[in-house]
Parts: sequence; structure tokens; C-alpha cells
Amino acid sequence: MSYRTYLVAGCFLCIGVARNPNGITTAGSSFRKSRELSCVFETSKIIPLSKEIETIRLNVRLLLSETESKEDQRSHPENLRDNIPSFFVDESSVDILQHANEDINALDCRISTYFTADTQIIWPGSEVRASKLDSWFTCTIKHAAEKYMTTAFLVQTHQESENHNQGQLSQGIAEQSHLSAVFLVHTRSPVVRSALSKDVLLDCTFSIDHQADVTVQWILYQKGGNKKLMFSYNGSSKQVEHMADRAEMLPEEIPKGNASLLLRNVGMRDEGTYSCSVSVSSLTGEQTIQLQIEEKPTVTINVNSLSLVEGEQHKLICDIRNYYPLDVQAQWLRERKGSRKVPDVVKNVLSSSHTQSSNGTYSCSRYFLLTASLKDDGHRYTCRVDHQSLQSPIRRSVIVKVRGGISIIWLLLLLLGLSVCITVVLYYLHKVRSTAKPKPY
Ligand SMILES: *[C@@H]1O[C@H](CO)[C@@H](O)[C@H](O)[C@H]1NC(C)=O
Ligand SMILES: *[C@@H]1O[C@H](CO)[C@@H](O)[C@H](O)[C@H]1NC(C)=O
Repeated sequence: MSYRTYLVAGCFLCIGVARNPNGITTAGSSFRKSRELSCVFETSKIIPLSKEIETIRLNVRLLLSETESKEDQRSHPENLRDNIPSFFVDESSVDILQHANEDINALDCRISTYFTADTQIIWPGSEVRASKLDSWFTCTIKHAAEKYMTTAFLVQTHQESENHNQGQLSQGIAEQSHLSAVFLVHTRSPVVRSALSKDVLLDCTFSIDHQADVTVQWILYQKGGNKKLMFSYNGSSKQVEHMADRAEMLPEEIPKGNASLLLRNVGMRDEGTYSCSVSVSSLTGEQTIQLQIEEKPTVTINVNSLSLVEGEQHKLICDIRNYYPLDVQAQWLRERKGSRKVPDVVKNVLSSSHTQSSNGTYSCSRYFLLTASLKDDGHRYTCRVDHQSLQSPIRRSVIVKVRGGISIIWLLLLLLGLSVCITVVLYYLHKVRSTAKPKPY
């Protein structure tokens, strides 16, 4: 196989900018199949005199080589016609694909220079030579839907860069760089959402191209800026040095490449960003995992059915209880039963203030005063609640029946009728009395 394999598709990610000038896309192609990924290369340099740091971004290509001799690969540079710098990652025991095989359009890839501060990173296979250092890069591949995140360390040995001087592009990046992946840290859960009091596994695994003692550290960065050491394992002494309350980790899992942390009975206090860092030699690979507690609200309204007389008033209350976090959207809607029209939003709805229970969840209510009128008869009033913990909004409804009351006109007619009756009765009574009187003679 040759470089042609790499050029089957020139794919690009759509993160704001179209990246690939050759414009060919193969939607739905997996990384395993295409073995090619568009990446953004980031490096920084100090601007002379001003001492400011300038960040440089370039579109580059990450290409995974297949099992074949390196000499073969190098004899076909004619396939790379465009000027996009290419990072060839040679097959090694650290398999990037195993951790990032997905539709390439769903992957975000960033390659950065890993500044070694002019110190030699001691790594098996890399020669120690004072004159020239190896070049180190990190490559982070992130799944758009937060399915995983992988950070790999790539090394270009100084012999590689000397032997392989295929022309320098801008910013001192070679048109082609041959690298090996030697170490990676991966998480399958960059964002974890959990209900209260559950046990959660914060996934963090790593892979190294040789047997090595690793040091593992978990740190929690809380929202207020607090920092808390959750776990630390020292690779040289093979000792767990610290383990926070309710945190668990099996040290025998670490040599297998598993640095995952189990948190028991999670609460609001555990929310934040967890950093899993794995150190080997002088490299430290890190993944961050966000833990967010979510509790679904329970929604009730204060009546099941409502039958009112015209003019009567009734308070309709929608109770939204025990949700987390605080943001919640609640509305009262009015619609005619069986109508296909979009329901009206009830106006003049009031809200109670939020209350927080001892377990940290919130409650509130939304209510309004309904004054029954005949045209409300048969209307359905619905309380619709949406919250980030819900897949779709919760709805609770009540149907209102309104009966006509006694109107003023009827009342007047009734009064009139009554007074006519009374007049008639009085008149007859008077007549009877006058006829019964003895004649005055
Ligand atoms: C890693 O170790 C944890 C326990 O610390 C375990 O629950 C988890 O299943 C392990 N993961 C893998 C991929 O083996
Ligand atoms: C939180 O507390 C409230 C009131 O004390 C209770 O009704 C609710 O079930 C609790 N939620 C959880 C998840 O424990």
C-alpha cells in the first residue's frame, strides 16, 4: 500500500471553518477506514522584542500508516500535492484508532507542540544526545457528542527530522513529519451526568508503548475555585498515597492501564471538573471529566378536575419539586379541548421563590387566579415544565367546566314579578276589607 491510501478522502471537520482546500468530503467515513483526519495544529512563539506570545494555527492532516515498511511509505511523496502539512503516525503499540474510531466528521482533532523546556525526555528508543532534542507533540481527538476524548503524545526523533527534510512550510513545520505515538490517555466519559446518591465511574485509561511505572493523580476543581485532591498513586513506591472519602480505585487495575475512579453516593458537593493525570518519565497526560448532578422535578397541580360557576375564582397552582440544578422553565397553557391550535400562554402567572431542601434539590411553584367565564368552559389548562434533566417537558393538565350563574336581568324580572304579585294580593285584601265593613247607616 502507498500514500494513495491516505488520500482516498480529504475530509474536514466543520467547526466554524471549512478546513480542507481540496474540498472533497466523504461524509460518514469512519476514521478506521479513511485513516486520515483533518486537524488544527497549534503552536506558539514569542514575538521578538515585545515578549508577547503569539499563537499560530494551521490546518494539517493526521495520517495513520498501516503495517508496511517505512521505506515503502517514503517513496511515494508525489501523492501529497497540496501544501497541507501532514503528520504521519507510524504503527505502534499505542493504537490511537482503538480509542477514536468514529465518523471523522464527528471528530475534532488538535495537534500542539509539547514544549519540553529544553530538557531531554527520557523515553526508551529515543537517543540521548545533547546537540539536538526530539520534537514532542500532543494530539487530542475529541468526539463532538462528548462520547470520548483521547490525548496522545507523539514523538519525532531528531534523526527522523534530519533524514526527512521534505521542505519546510510556514512556521517551521515540515511538509511531512513522521511520528510515533508512545503514550495516550483516554476517557469514555468527558461529561458525566448523575442523579443524587448514585455511584459513578469516572473513566480514565492509558496506554504506553513500554512497561513503565506510572503515577496517577485525580484532582477535583470545584465551581467556586476550590481544588481537592481525590486520589494519588505513586508509581515508584507502588503505593496509594491518598484516597478521598467515598472515592475508590483498585491499585491492581493501574498496571493494566485503568486509572478510573469510582465515586460513591454522589451529591452536589462532588460536582465539578475532575482531572485524571497520568505521569510516566517526564510526560504527564491528562483528561478532564465534568460531573454534573441532575435530578428530575416532580410536577403536580392542586386540582384534578374543576367545575366552577360563572364568575367564581379559583387559584391554579403548579408545584415543581426536588429538581437540580436551579434553572427550570414552567408555563401555564390554555387550549380548547380537542383543538389543534397552538395553546395560549396564560398571562399574569406568579412564581413563588425557590426553596432548597437539605439534600440540595430545589422546589418552586407557578400559580394564577382563574376567574371562570362561560367561554372558558371545556378549556384545558396545562402546566408545562422543562428542565435540563428531562428528555421532554413534563405536562400536567386540568379541564375546567363552567356553569352559567343567575344573571342580573333574571334577578330584575324576578323582583318585578314578585312586586306585581304583592301588589295584586294587597289590592284584593283591601277590597275584601272594604266590602266586609258594615254600612254606616
Ligand atoms: C477500571 O477499574 C474500575 C475499578 O477501579 C472498574 O470498575 C472498571 O470496570 C475498570 N474498567 C475497565 C475498562 O476495566
Ligand atoms: C430530597 O429531599 C426531598 C425533601 O426532603 C425529598 O422529597 C426528595 O425525595 C429527596 N431527593 C432525593 C433524590 O433524595
